[in-house]
Amino acid sequence: MVHHRERERWATRIGLILAMAGNAVGLGNFLRFPVQAAENGGGAFMIPYIIAFLIIGIPLMWIEWAIGRYGGAHGHGTTPAIFHLLWKNPISKVIGVFGLWIPLVVIIYYIYIESWTLGFAIKFLLGLVPSIPADGADPNTYLKPFENFLVSYIGSGEEFIKPSGYAYLIFLITVVINILILSRGVSRGIEAFAKVAMPTLFILAVVLVVRVFTLETENGSALQGLNFLWKPDLSKLTDPGVWIAASGQIFFTLSLGFGAIITYASYIKKNQDITLSGLTASSLNETAEVVLGGSLAIPAAVAFFGVANAVAIAQSGAFNLGFISLPAIFANMPAGTFLGFLWFFLLFFAGLTSSLALMQPLIAFFEDEFGLSRKTSVYITAGIVFFSAHLVIFLNKSLDEMDFWAGTIGVVFFGLLEMVIFLWIFGGEKAWREINRGGIIQVPRFYYYVMRYITPIFLTVLLVVWAKEYIPKVMSETLWTVWVTRFYLIGLFLFLTLLVFIADRKKLKEASG
Ligand code: TRP
Repeated sequence: MVHHRERERWATRIGLILAMAGNAVGLGNFLRFPVQAAENGGGAFMIPYIIAFLIIGIPLMWIEWAIGRYGGAHGHGTTPAIFHLLWKNPISKVIGVFGLWIPLVVIIYYIYIESWTLGFAIKFLLGLVPSIPADGADPNTYLKPFENFLVSYIGSGEEFIKPSGYAYLIFLITVVINILILSRGVSRGIEAFAKVAMPTLFILAVVLVVRVFTLETENGSALQGLNFLWKPDLSKLTDPGVWIAASGQIFFTLSLGFGAIITYASYIKKNQDITLSGLTASSLNETAEVVLGGSLAIPAAVAFFGVANAVAIAQSGAFNLGFISLPAIFANMPAGTFLGFLWFFLLFFAGLTSSLALMQPLIAFFEDEFGLSRKTSVYITAGIVFFSAHLVIFLNKSLDEMDFWAGTIGVVFFGLLEMVIFLWIFGGEKAWREINRGGIIQVPRFYYYVMRYITPIFLTVLLVVWAKEYIPKVMSETLWTVWVTRFYLIGLFLFLTLLVFIADRKKLKEASG
């Protein structure tokens, strides 16, 4: 029995743009970006960041939208099948498995972090946060309660993490919320939610920025924070590490190289514009990141703790700024419990619109390639994610390991393969026409050369430098939990590869029977 179902489509252009912006705007904009900028030269970071946006971000964004729309027109929303349309070689399917594996691995830990934001938001909403006056007190007394709360999620370094019952419960709720939205489908679920969530998110962020900018304590002010964040330290530009960090941030914040944009793009109508829409969605993400993300965490921390302490906090660990310092700051302001709630609710919405996007590739795979119903596909996918997340919840260092292989190195590797397959194997001119077809604007010809030469070369160099520097470091980690994670990740890859081949055999049989 062959199902030739109509694939779903985005209902409106604004819905498509908001869903794509929701895909890209995530925790990375509000937590990762300010820390990266502060650590990598402040204002000087913006030079490699803008260059990376122009020569990696924009071209790869158009390429992923084009690959996805092309696949969708042929009934496929994930890369194993789409790469095979572009390149009739069996190896293309195996390469395509990365486009399922990367978002799957990332959602396994991303959804847990998302659940922390909900957990913190609910605590604040219920007023269950301690407020110990920060003035003059030893920082430990008012940071400690939040540190303990974070520890109830991530442990304090022991091999086995023992999350609190509350942490686990909220994790379950987070998974259920994702299932509820996803099972309503692309336009009635994801798109409808993005239309509410994205405007809400922007409004929340603006409210918080206004509040942060009127902050002033004896330690400092938000303006000093901005001064610090944007003061260019040009000597940093000769450090390759800064360029790597900027490129990595562009990949992460625009969700590039994950396969997630490709799947979303597969629901675009065959001849609908992608050039202007892609640019618009990317610009919305950059506004949320640079303007709003840059004006919250760091300025608030500087206003409260002074520049030196804020830097120390930013460097002390990826989550400390957002989950320890900021809640402590809010808890000590007038109406602070409400502001703290807004901050975590903002993060939760940012995370939720991204986790939907990370789940959708595997869901689309089950629907398109196995002909399963949407609900069944959502349940199977959520089941795999839920089961696998226990590794992250209970084993120390598992999260970092997944983030490194899939979310850091994996995406650059996969982004490079996308460009090579589309612009070199499928063909430069064909790819160029595919990108511009139906476009409200035509991409300047200059970008043809960027896509074919400059970006691939840049990414290759990046990958080599990066691999050389970090792989030995990462591989020197011998903790058993890390090895368990690695074997699990390899197992997932083999499992997905197997599924791809089973789907093929099934289709062959159906075609001949
Ligand atoms: N861009 C998201 C953020 O800034 C995170 C992310 C990375 C993502 N890759 C993704 C989200 C793929 C959805 C799909 O937090």
